[in-house]
Amino acid sequence: MTDEVTLSARPTCPGFDHYGPQMQEDAIAVLSEMRTRCPVAWSDSHDGFWVLTQYAECYEASRDFQRFSSATGAIPNFLGGLKLPPVEYDPPEHEVYRSLLQRWFTYRRIVGFEDDIRRFARRRVEALGERAELVSELCLPFPRDVILYILGVEESAIDGIGTLLSYSTESFVEDPDGALGAMAELHRYFIDDLVASRRRNPSDDFISHLVTSTVDGEPLSDQMLALLIQQVIGGGFETTTKVLGTSLAYLGENLAAQRELRDSPLDTGVEELLRMFTPLSVGRQARTDTQLGGQAIEEGERALLMLGAANRDPAQFADPDCPDFGRSPNPHLAFGVGIHRCLGMHLARMEMVIAFEELFAAVEEIRLHPGQRPTYRAGQVWGATSVPVELTFRAR
Ligand code: HEM
Repeated sequence: MTDEVTLSARPTCPGFDHYGPQMQEDAIAVLSEMRTRCPVAWSDSHDGFWVLTQYAECYEASRDFQRFSSATGAIPNFLGGLKLPPVEYDPPEHEVYRSLLQRWFTYRRIVGFEDDIRRFARRRVEALGERAELVSELCLPFPRDVILYILGVEESAIDGIGTLLSYSTESFVEDPDGALGAMAELHRYFIDDLVASRRRNPSDDFISHLVTSTVDGEPLSDQMLALLIQQVIGGGFETTTKVLGTSLAYLGENLAAQRELRDSPLDTGVEELLRMFTPLSVGRQARTDTQLGGQAIEEGERALLMLGAANRDPAQFADPDCPDFGRSPNPHLAFGVGIHRCLGMHLARMEMVIAFEELFAAVEEIRLHPGQRPTYRAGQVWGATSVPVELTFRAR
């Protein structure tokens, strides 16, 4: 009886599903309405979870790992309950695997990849025609090439492995068996071939770093290596693909904003695009009965932190739906906050800046194709899946 009273007092968002068709069609409007009407709301989808759409609560729940666990980061968990280290680990294990990755992903090391990153971007930009689909031709393959190269995949194998990788992530909803098959093939490539070869002859790539690292004096098991590789690949390209694609869909429709971005410093410009087109929402689970934004949350209940909605919260950002490519400070939450803050953010920022530099150097104007609309995918990683455009090239 007590439970019923508590439950009926909950603010709800009936039918809200971050994978649902409404979120596919107009995620920004749906979330903006929820933030205004009911910023901490209960959804019955996927066995029930809280939906947080204001900056203050997303910030608080992200930072407070003592009240909110990351153990159920994915809602629902398409990996059959598997947890990815470090993003779905809590302290003290979280720190062990985070520092292991962070030791390699330093700002200095990433800057050392600048020329390679530019080479990969330029290759994709040079292959574009006057009519192009920017997600499949640039936003997806470019960060995918980069992360595979950084891991240590031979350049001649990058296209083949990349195709498998895209299938394993993009088709999880439509073809789970096919996606699992692709994952098994990737496991064979990474663990049976690449890891085995680096164990015999370590070099200075990321896989070599993993196979020569130890935890509590022991080398990492194959299963842990597979999860860490999956984490870096998963974190490393789908998010970047989505934010690049969604930004280009916007810029292709809003030519004045495109001109403004071209005339702005790209470092602040890219931060503003990350704020406006934040791709990732993150999951948490209450460790105890607690309160958030005036709502009682029970131990074990999950919450989905809609970072994109938080990043358009007018209580935090002036005129949040209008780009200000010089906005400073810009304390957006696109890379999260707290102990799980994105450790690939230097790489992601550099990829975005270089992608725009190369595209703007080659192309005078990017316009959405007049007869075709961009398409979007809803979900915990949200963003454009196709952006058909017409491009006006400078002399080639
Ligand atoms: C624009 C691109 C990216 C966005 C928007 C993004 C976003 C995020 C966010 C929001 C988190 C925090 C998750 C949480 O609090 O639960 C995170 C964590 C993480 N990201 Fe990224 N990310 C991006 C690119 C990358 C790249 C390129 C890598 C490649 C190395 C990467 C690797 C990771 C890892 C390993 C974590 C887990 C950190 C931890 O749990 O301590 N991300 N990312």
